[in-house]
Amino acid sequence: MKSTHFRKNLLEWHAANDRPLPWKGEKNPYYIWLSEIILQQTRVEQGLPYFERFKENYPRVKDLADAPEDEVMKMWEGLGYYSRARNLHATAKNIAYNLDGKFPDSYEEILKLKGVGPYTAAAIASFAYNLPNAVVDGNVYRVLSRTFGISTPIDSTDGKKEFAKLAQECLDVKQAGVYNQAIMDFGATHCTPKNPNCQSCLLSEKCVGFQESRVENLPVKSKKLVKRNRFFYYLVINAGEKVLVKKREAGDIWQGLYEFPIIETEQTVTNRNQIEGSETWHQFINESDYSVLRVSKAYKRVLTHQKISIQFWEIQVENFKNDYEKAGFIAISRAELVGLAFPRTIDLYLSDKSLSLELF
Ligand code: ADE
Repeated sequence: MKSTHFRKNLLEWHAANDRPLPWKGEKNPYYIWLSEIILQQTRVEQGLPYFERFKENYPRVKDLADAPEDEVMKMWEGLGYYSRARNLHATAKNIAYNLDGKFPDSYEEILKLKGVGPYTAAAIASFAYNLPNAVVDGNVYRVLSRTFGISTPIDSTDGKKEFAKLAQECLDVKQAGVYNQAIMDFGATHCTPKNPNCQSCLLSEKCVGFQESRVENLPVKSKKLVKRNRFFYYLVINAGEKVLVKKREAGDIWQGLYEFPIIETEQTVTNRNQIEGSETWHQFINESDYSVLRVSKAYKRVLTHQKISIQFWEIQVENFKNDYEKAGFIAISRAELVGLAFPRTIDLYLSDKSLSLELF
């Protein structure tokens, strides 16, 4: 594969498969920065409403800078990894008050912003100012390793250098922003990690990975898979004999199994306010009317790609809040729970007689 061939066909693909995203064609670096920070945290579909909300509530960088921290955190709620939101806020203040309200306009200066790494800096520089900086992220590693048949590990020093150089070589310097968006979209929707669409791909004829049947094995990583840690906190909310449960949806483990209202975190919760102050808690529990009966031990589950810690909070309420049905929950008696399919750990919990009291 030649870089010229790659570039030409990639841009052709993009012209025919343009995803209409609200930040496309956006020239305001502040909005681009917002969208990229949000997208570091979540997928496009989930990130969209957050992006719209930030834009609407903080139309200028100064509006974000002057917003109370709590409000920014609240607006970030649900995205997780709150240090990103704090960096976002700190950077807005820095731009508004140290940089005279002007977003930096060179790659080097953009890169100096807190919370902005080489990938985000290249995205902002190219989208806002059409500067010739190629983005390199997971999508780009995948697309380039496959099309050019490169098996240098992407997490090695050599690999990082090799891919950064190649990415820069492939970049269309005259339309760097369009090119960067094209390679990201191509990786996200066409040359996907699983089941890439090689059957109808403009690049397949010259794609080294495809021609050598190596697509599934690229890109290469040298380090062993690091399991993702997840922490589940289930609210077992009892009103009389009944508790609230819901079927898990597609897109994650345990699809189709039942569970209680859940709070998921990336780190273990060390303060009960993280539970009692969560969105899920407020959705189901009235301030004035609850008591926490007990908190279970943390059950551990190890899956192929993740380690999960699961804790149950037994809560007594007078009545359920009204709109639990709208949120897809059903109220079911404890006796009827046995008729539903639960993940193994929930079954274990329900039959565990040695429930301990471990309030913080
Ligand atoms: N992921 C991160 N940035 C993106 C962008 N600008 N468009 C689509 N997906 C992205």
